[in-house]
Amino acid sequence: MLEQLNEKDFGTPRRISEQEVTLEIDGMQVTVAAGTSIMRAAAEGGVNVPKLCATDSLEPFGSCRLCLVEIEGRRGYPASCTTPAEQGMKVRTQSPKLQALRKGVMELYISDHPLDCLTCAANGNCELQDMAGVTGLREVRYGYDGENHIHSEKDESNPYFTYDASKCIVCNRCVRACEETQGTYALTISGRGFESRVSPGQDQPFMESECVSCGACVQVCPTATLREKTLIELGQAEHSVVTTCAYCGVGCSFKAEMKGNEVVRMVPDKNGQANEGHSCVKGRFAWGYATHKDRILKPMIRGRITDPWKEVSWDEALDYAASEFKRIQKKYGRDSVGGIVSSRCTNEEGYLVQKLVRTAFGNNNVDTCARVCHSPTGYGLKQTLGESAGTQTFKSVEHSDVILVIGANPTDAHPVFASRMKKRLREGAKLIVIDPRHIDLVRSPHVQADFHLPLKPGTNVAMVSALAHVIVSEGLLATEFIAQRCEDKAFQQWRDFVALPENSPEAMQDITGVPAELVRGAARLYATGGNAAIYYGLGVTEHAQGSTAVMGIANLAMATGNIGREGVGVNPLRGQNNVQGSCDIGSFPHELPGYRHVSDSTTRHLFEQAWGVEIQPEPGLRIPNMFDAALDGSFMGVYCQGEDIVQSDPNTQHVTAALSAMECIVVQDIFMNETAMYAHVFLPGSSFLEKDGTFTNAERRISRVRKVMPPKAVYADWEVTVQLAKRLGYEMDYTHPSEIMDEIARLTPTFHGVSYEKLDSLGSIQWPCNDEAPLGTPIMHIDQFVRGKGKFIITKYVATDEKVTRKFPLILTTGRILSQYNVGAQTRRTENVQWHEQDLLEIHPHDAEERGVVDGGWVGIHSRAGDTVLRAKVSERMQPGVVYTTFHFPESGANVITTENSDWATNCPEYKVTAVQVMPVTEPSEWQKKYTRFSKVQHELLGKAEPSSAKDKSIA
Ligand code: SF4
Ligand code: SF4
Ligand code: SF4
Ligand code: FES
Repeated sequence: MLEQLNEKDFGTPRRISEQEVTLEIDGMQVTVAAGTSIMRAAAEGGVNVPKLCATDSLEPFGSCRLCLVEIEGRRGYPASCTTPAEQGMKVRTQSPKLQALRKGVMELYISDHPLDCLTCAANGNCELQDMAGVTGLREVRYGYDGENHIHSEKDESNPYFTYDASKCIVCNRCVRACEETQGTYALTISGRGFESRVSPGQDQPFMESECVSCGACVQVCPTATLREKTLIELGQAEHSVVTTCAYCGVGCSFKAEMKGNEVVRMVPDKNGQANEGHSCVKGRFAWGYATHKDRILKPMIRGRITDPWKEVSWDEALDYAASEFKRIQKKYGRDSVGGIVSSRCTNEEGYLVQKLVRTAFGNNNVDTCARVCHSPTGYGLKQTLGESAGTQTFKSVEHSDVILVIGANPTDAHPVFASRMKKRLREGAKLIVIDPRHIDLVRSPHVQADFHLPLKPGTNVAMVSALAHVIVSEGLLATEFIAQRCEDKAFQQWRDFVALPENSPEAMQDITGVPAELVRGAARLYATGGNAAIYYGLGVTEHAQGSTAVMGIANLAMATGNIGREGVGVNPLRGQNNVQGSCDIGSFPHELPGYRHVSDSTTRHLFEQAWGVEIQPEPGLRIPNMFDAALDGSFMGVYCQGEDIVQSDPNTQHVTAALSAMECIVVQDIFMNETAMYAHVFLPGSSFLEKDGTFTNAERRISRVRKVMPPKAVYADWEVTVQLAKRLGYEMDYTHPSEIMDEIARLTPTFHGVSYEKLDSLGSIQWPCNDEAPLGTPIMHIDQFVRGKGKFIITKYVATDEKVTRKFPLILTTGRILSQYNVGAQTRRTENVQWHEQDLLEIHPHDAEERGVVDGGWVGIHSRAGDTVLRAKVSERMQPGVVYTTFHFPESGANVITTENSDWATNCPEYKVTAVQVMPVTEPSEWQKKYTRFSKVQHELLGKAEPSSAKDKSIA
């Protein structure tokens, strides 16, 4: 789907009002919503008033004076961007006087602007140039000899964009974008009058300022002052394709601006319903990994992991993989093999992997990395509300009066949603943050949490019960809602349970570490503050009681009636781009697509008929079960698409021991990841730029991923799965991923109405999408819950087995950072490493001092699972007794430390609570030394890969 490069800019944002006004513009009648600017009204009527400081993503500012108009009966020449349209107004946008005034304005701008248009990066896409043309500027009377800024220095500090001050017209758009759109307030206009200049921070280079490199300022700059370095290098793009970011669960829509098969830049799509034209540093700038030299583009095989890799043809690699899986099944039985698919893969890819496992392998041994992040969400929300998904759109937060963020760090992990949330907070919504750390949201420019409850890691359930206790005991229940919408008996039992004195904030204080009064205040605010929405993340799910906490959160929403309308709801912030989708399409070992249990004979029969095979009625192995079975000698082969289990799963040494015990590991990936070092077959993967498909974001929004360049390794991932299945004896007959989606839609009631055609016409669709909801479902559970009546579930707090002891007195918790993404395989191969080149251990000053740990020094971290060494960052963001690290670099070994403790219902690992000791050290841990040696050997074996002798031929 090719798109126009430049979309129409209406100058000022759209206003929504039930009232309309009709005015006359240049003799034409135009009707617009009340509050609309004259500039926008004119643009909607097809008349473009000249402008420079206005753009439709920002509130008008009225500084450039280029958009002057004449209004009958009014004196002077008001700016059309700041003047609202009024009923009966008569406006002229063109007259000799206006022309002269505009020319004069342009003359002043141009006299202080380098006239290097022909060699300027914005040539052909510069609003200043356009306005010079529109206003008919032919000469500059003031000459260029006076005082000017033409020799101002460039700031090249940001790896992705340049600030060339000589070209700045001080229109203030960038400053407003940083404030209004991004909410970071990194830019100011320093100096006055002629001296005024855009300045990051205190006149610092961009990289030393508060700038988070979201690029919003670059996007709105009308000149070449702020420009992407790729655009400066490659020149203007010649076409664009709309696609979806392959990083986080926000699912931002982008226009990939292209020159042939080369990406020039990624521009957030104004029509993208998840992001509305905004982005973060990852999606906008960190796409260079897709063409990184580390990409592996040839299939490879080897007999043992100590052998060098051998490059082979696609046919040979797939034949070998298939014959190995067959051999293993013959020797060890049908259930001795399985598949793992990453939530980074598309819906169609995930669907094919689970289909391959259920048809060609003949078992249910398929799992996805959602196992290790949001499986408790699936379980908890299904039990209480009836659907394993969040309830709202992101836009719904614009209607929230109270926002409760628990176990999530949106400014780092879901930045575009965080910007939206911060905007609402600046408008006056109240904020409750429940998090062990002092995350940025607690206090950032113009945002201050009304309550921060810094609980001890592992005590979410105690906290949720304490909040519920206040709501019940202080008479804050939404009794009417509960009576109408929820199961009465379950509610009564829950109410009696939470009302017990042992669940009071006072009783829970010792457990959570949070003063009771804070908990009471937060509960009152949540229950009585108007529309209250809960947003939660992995800080809720990745616990021994992850599913219990999710159910507790759903209880809170039902108890206060905060569900089923705009501005409220229960909203899991999904980590990876397609966590929601990979769960929806049947990647779990117990569920067929659409969250239908494999034991359900009707569903099984439906798929058996469609697929022509018998489906096993027993759930298959979950990822951790696969590891245990491998060590027992009963699980010997795995097809692993896009998932790096060695780096991302807990207790690394357990994982690598399991993989070492297996006989055939097939890794399909774009890089030689940590898991691939234990593999026997490597199938080159395709990046999101090289394939068609769909991702489903945290709002249940299905968006198209569109191929902008051919697959670098010849085949898209879905084609490879089809071929592997064929060699395993199961034919799949697809010519395009749209046919895979058609099959998903045919077999899955919540997807019945989804098709690529509809996605193209609507832009995106939030499921359920079927006959009852042909355009999708932005908000769920409006009149009734998906399960009929909402079900309160008792959430008894049970302390984790992972206790602090004298030997391991601190609690380690883990999380993400803005510039990096998960295992870092993509972002480590971009300039994003400039912000975060290694994982650090954050530690409170008291804990640091007690141990002689200094900022920047090496520290050993010991848990009962293993040891690793990181550099320390002494930080007041931590509470005493709690340390924190990210897990973006394999050599950090964050998951060498984490244990195999997991959620009681779903086996989601308890990443967020590991008892550790931290001490200054002088050398890497034993594991790190071993890892370095192993990794070196594996890279040598890769370096020695024998080139393919056979000419690669079609795998069809
Ligand atoms: S940098 Fe660009 S957007 Fe910012 S004031 Fe200068 S010209 Fe305007
Ligand atoms: S890149 Fe984003 S954060 Fe940085 S100055 Fe521009 S708008 Fe602000
Ligand atoms: S917020 Fe998420 S989806 Fe959006 S650009 Fe950033 S990483 Fe991509
Ligand atoms: S566009 Fe209206 S004053 Fe600049």
